[in-house]
Amino acid sequence: MRESELKEKIRALAAERNALILAHNYQRDEIQEIADITGDSLGLSQEAARTERQVIVFCGVHFMAESAAILAPQKQVIIPRADAGCPMADMVDAEGIKQMRRQHPGAVVVTYVNSSAAVKAESDICCTSANAVRVVNSLSEPEVILIPDRNLGRYIAERTSKICHVWDGYCPTHERLDVIEVLSAKAAHPDALFLAHPECPPAILALADHICSTSGMYEYVQGRSERTFIIGTEAGILYRLRRENPGKTFILAGHRLICPNMKLTSLEDLYQSLLTMSPTITVDADIAARARIALDRMLAVPRD
Ligand code: 13P
Ligand code: SF4
Repeated sequence: MRESELKEKIRALAAERNALILAHNYQRDEIQEIADITGDSLGLSQEAARTERQVIVFCGVHFMAESAAILAPQKQVIIPRADAGCPMADMVDAEGIKQMRRQHPGAVVVTYVNSSAAVKAESDICCTSANAVRVVNSLSEPEVILIPDRNLGRYIAERTSKICHVWDGYCPTHERLDVIEVLSAKAAHPDALFLAHPECPPAILALADHICSTSGMYEYVQGRSERTFIIGTEAGILYRLRRENPGKTFILAGHRLICPNMKLTSLEDLYQSLLTMSPTITVDADIAARARIALDRMLAVPRD
């Protein structure tokens, strides 16, 4: 089937099924193009929670579709590629949190949404890269456990007066970003601003002009008069940055910034998932109820 024909069929099927297609900012260009809404982890969770559509097709990775299923329990949530996981989310389990709690009684467990439902269920509150510092500083307790990303954890620790205990997980994609590569991109483009995602290692963040979530990058670029930007996050972000800012130049900070899991979903997978209405994400009712408390607490934290 030709790509244009496939896209038409996807649109027609989505309308017939009353389905909302959500795509993370790291998805392939053609998936972002056909989605109803693209966004970062926070934005997509909010869309899932508020949609009136009966079906949510989540083009992203497993933990994101799980969050949608928890926030919209009366909806059917489909993930076109059930094998699209997140290695960072797999670096902690529920038992790991229980151990941390035993080591630091009284500390609040703040868990990045890049985690399984079972891990969220053991947590007090969730956060995303867009709201992590705000979430931690909204708490009245003086001590927090930050799970699972050590880079986001250190980034938060530098921006709060709370005592922080940081889990040793990381995103293999952002971890591959190399200081030498960033410095040579900066040397080649001395007028460029360097934007980095908080999942990058501290040595990379130290070189950044601005640190923010994926959607934060779109907003930031629109408000700046500079013409060139070096981008320190997954390559999929370039699609919208270039489309929305035709007069500006975007250079990826490293040549290995590709998340294999985020790139799994193809148009054919999306089409098949709408055709068969599968695979559906289900979360155990008890785990979902407890994870929802942590997600709802995050969503209730006011914006600055
Ligand atoms: P955000 O979309 O929250 O910036 O997260 C990046 C990410 O790694 C998602 O997997
Ligand atoms: Fe997980 Fe990193 Fe891929 Fe995001 S980019 S899904 S954190 S491996």
